Amino acid sequence: MTEHLTNEAAIRQWNRFPREALEAMGPEGDFAKRHLINPVLLRMLGDVRGRRILDAGSGHGYFSRMLATRGARVTGIEPTDSMLSYAREKESSLQQGIEYIQADLAQLPELGDPYDAVVCSMVLQAIPDWKPAMRACVQALRPGGVFTFSVNHPAFEQLLTTWREHGDYRLNRYLAEYETSQTHASNFHRPISAYLNELAALDCRLLEFAEPGLTPDAAQEAQPATPGIESYAHLPNFMLVAAERL
Ligand SMILES: C[S@@+](CC[C@H](N)C(=O)[O-])C[C@H]1O[C@@H](n2cnc3c(N)ncnc32)[C@H](O)[C@@H]1O
Repeated sequence: MTEHLTNEAAIRQWNRFPREALEAMGPEGDFAKRHLINPVLLRMLGDVRGRRILDAGSGHGYFSRMLATRGARVTGIEPTDSMLSYAREKESSLQQGIEYIQADLAQLPELGDPYDAVVCSMVLQAIPDWKPAMRACVQALRPGGVFTFSVNHPAFEQLLTTWREHGDYRLNRYLAEYETSQTHASNFHRPISAYLNELAALDCRLLEFAEPGLTPDAAQEAQPATPGIESYAHLPNFMLVAAERL
């Protein structure tokens, strides 16, 4: 656990995420989600039709809606009032059958029947006391169910900023666990081994470890609006993991 912030305090930060920023995102999320995260998560989850999927830390619900559009039966878990109310408003207008539950993943209530898959995208890095949250994700699965998660790649977290400054990537603190402040809420750096060893301790079998890069064409297209984005074609800003509950 990263000491300085409690889960409750971190959730209060996320609750202040501006509504305009949520509304500005497309139906499939921001640029990084569309190009790097969603395609890998969807491939890892496979055919979701008719499957019960838990979107753990569902935020404003874009990925829950993408899964429901593809035929999954989705439950979203989200602790903040602000993102949860946005997601519920979308559900009232779209009527996709998504159920949203307000909870901290580290103190998850009883959810009923086990899930076929759990997706936890860009969430574990936002939780100070993250191990109970990962445990809850795994325990929500049936044996043989798939747990997928994404986090900022711990070896290249500050990719855009250091690339813009130095034209390459620099990192001088990898092994320690520490808080990193982002625009709206803190994140927590942990080495890759912390995540993978916890999965092993939870009796999960690694199915895939992905480090997606931008295609050169996508990088070139985005370059005028986002200087430094070419770095995403050379280094991975995200890592994604798929594991099976044994
Ligand atoms: C970067 S957002 C990702 C949201 C969503 N998965 C997505 O990809 O758009 C991080 C999310 O983690 C949620 N979060 C933070 N602490 C949490 C906790 N203890 N339990 C569950 N979710 C948490 C935040 O409220 C926020 O929705």
